[in-house]
Amino acid sequence: MKALVWHGKEDIRCDTVTDPEIEHPRDAIVKVTSCAICGSDLHLFHNFIPAMLPGDIMGHEMMGEVVEVGSGVNGKLKKGERIVVPFTIICGECEQCKAGNFSVCETTNRKKYLADKVFGHSTAGLFGYTHLTGGYPGGQAEYVRVPYADATHIKVPDGIPDEQVLFLGDIFPTGWQAAVQCDIKPTDTVAVWGCGPVGQMSIRSAILLGAKQVVAIDYLPDRLSMAEAGGAITINFDEESVIERLEELTNGKGPEKCIDAIGFESHVTPFQPDTILDRTKQMLMLQNDRAHVLREMIYVCRPGGVISIPGVYSGFADKVPMGPLMNKGLTIRTGQTHVNRWTDDLLRRIEDGQIDPSFVITHTAGLDAGPEMYKVFRDKQDSCIKVVLKP
Ligand SMILES: NC(=O)c1ccc[n+]([C@@H]2O[C@H](COP(=O)([O-])OP(=O)(O)OC[C@H]3O[C@@H](n4cnc5c(N)ncnc54)[C@H](O)[C@@H]3O)[C@@H](O)[C@H]2O)c1
Ligand SMILES: [Zn+2]
Ligand SMILES: [Zn+2]
Repeated sequence: MKALVWHGKEDIRCDTVTDPEIEHPRDAIVKVTSCAICGSDLHLFHNFIPAMLPGDIMGHEMMGEVVEVGSGVNGKLKKGERIVVPFTIICGECEQCKAGNFSVCETTNRKKYLADKVFGHSTAGLFGYTHLTGGYPGGQAEYVRVPYADATHIKVPDGIPDEQVLFLGDIFPTGWQAAVQCDIKPTDTVAVWGCGPVGQMSIRSAILLGAKQVVAIDYLPDRLSMAEAGGAITINFDEESVIERLEELTNGKGPEKCIDAIGFESHVTPFQPDTILDRTKQMLMLQNDRAHVLREMIYVCRPGGVISIPGVYSGFADKVPMGPLMNKGLTIRTGQTHVNRWTDDLLRRIEDGQIDPSFVITHTAGLDAGPEMYKVFRDKQDSCIKVVLKP
């Protein structure tokens, strides 16, 4: 089959590889009908997260048709069914899965010893996301093996186009969880840093959850326009001070809730000198993570407020202002998304017409064009916001 294969920094190729097979009774094989490139894939593209190996298949946002099931799937999934595959591989049986904390499933990381060493404790296995999370082949491919498939799936009805349900596997529940973790009240201002796909989903989720106002921050005009179309007030950080404008919008009190939809690859610009220092330290391997956005959020957030972090961080960040964080009594909530905790509700909202997540798609291409589309997405060429690939 064809698949997008990681060969090294900024080197992803569309290769012919061996078709996946059932390896364990709880496996299923899915013929991928649609898959997407995620902002998280860019961290791997840039080789910032350790433990990728040449030959690893990329991709963790995919859906398709079940073509084969193992004997241990026990009728929970059948050949011919249409599913979205959550990016988190879940057993459905461990203490964490039972508590709904699916992204920290205790069972599915088959290279648990690596994650135990790096994180202190292992987290769930993930598709196409380094050997720290199991080294499982991803779904930017014609076929994908789904381990623990009896639990690791989201069934979707026929009749809804792929584009409307595909993002149930990652960015839609990610934006939703980021907003839910803010415990939004009708009097709240929610500020969202980053208007990439995750930021866009966070903005619409915060509005659906009833925020008084949502403020979206980025510097890319097309992304800010999409945020505005979703109901947000926008701030272009290249043109005005984020702190001053947020103060103005909240009568000098600061937003109650702040969402970091950027993560550790925050934009580097001479207008924000700390970002230059961060980049230098990152290159010298003195830190992994660029913390500009965390600094800005902690500084501007209203005392007693919440900082919600769906953006991915990889290791250590410098100069995170612990004094203001502690003295202002802020709460930090974060995590890889507990996808299946949210998807029944979110599928119903799509079916009800409350939201159509396909609004974020700007580019659709074949798998062969995948390597080029990584660059188009990374460099925001041609107003690119979200790429869907059709294997
Ligand atoms: N927690 C999870 O489970 C989960 C799931 C999916 C994605 N993610 C993470 O979410 C983050 C965003 O993903 P995405 O697909 O939207 O990526 P993206 O790279 O397309 O979007 C990031 C956006 O942030 C903007 N930005 C950069 N620096 C900024 C700054 N200082 N202020 C304001 N905006 C700034 C960029 O211009 C860009 O539009 C990534 O870190 C990704 O890994 C996490
Ligand atoms: Zn992702
Ligand atoms: Zn589990």
